[in-house]
Amino acid sequence: MPNAKHAQRLAIVLFAALTLVACSKESTEASAENPGHASGEHGSSSSAGLPKGHIAKGEELAKAKGKATGQSCIDCHGADGNAPIDDTYPKLGGQYGDYLAHALQAYRGGDRQHALMSPQAANLSDQDISDLAAYFGSRPSQLRDLHGVHE
Ligand code: HEC
Repeated sequence: MPNAKHAQRLAIVLFAALTLVACSKESTEASAENPGHASGEHGSSSSAGLPKGHIAKGEELAKAKGKATGQSCIDCHGADGNAPIDDTYPKLGGQYGDYLAHALQAYRGGDRQHALMSPQAANLSDQDISDLAAYFGSRPSQLRDLHGVHE
C-alpha cells in the first residue's frame, strides 16, 4: 500500500517540524528573560551578569560610613571582614565573590532579610555590590561556620 507509507512519512516529517518550532520558541523565551536577570532587576538574586568588580574601589566602600546608618561594613565585620564585632556576625574575608554578591543582592531585593544587614544593602548599586564582593573575596580567608556560637 504505497499510500499508507507515504502518509506515515508525512506524519514523521510533520512531527519533526513541530518539534523544531517548539524548541526554537523555548529558546527565544529564555533569552528574552535574561536581560532582567543580568541587571539584577525584578527581585532577581543571580550574581550572573553583574559588572566586573574592582578591589580598590571595594576597599573604599567597605570603609565608608553608609548614609542610612552611619556605619561601614568593617565597623561590624571587622578589618578584612575577618574580625566581626559579635560572634554571630559572619566573616567575609576570602568568601567566594559570587556568594557575597548573591547575598548582597538578596538583602537589597528583600529575598534575605535581617534587621541590621538589609539597610546596609538597600542603596548599593550593582557596581557597588561587585566592588565589595571583589574586595572581601580577595582578603585572606578565616572562614568558619557558626558551630557552637548559638549554644
Ligand atoms: C550593623 C552591623 C553591620 C554592618 C554595618 C554591615 N553588616 Fe553585613 N552582616 C551583619 C550581620 C549581623 C549579618 C548576618 C545577617 C544574617 O544572618 O542574615 C551580615 C551578613 C552579611 C553578609 C552575608 C554573609 C554570609 O555569610 O551569608 C554579607 C555578604 C555582608 N553582611 C556584607 C556586608 C557589607 C558589604 C557591608 C557594608 C556595605 C555590611 N555587610 C555592613 C552586620 C552588618
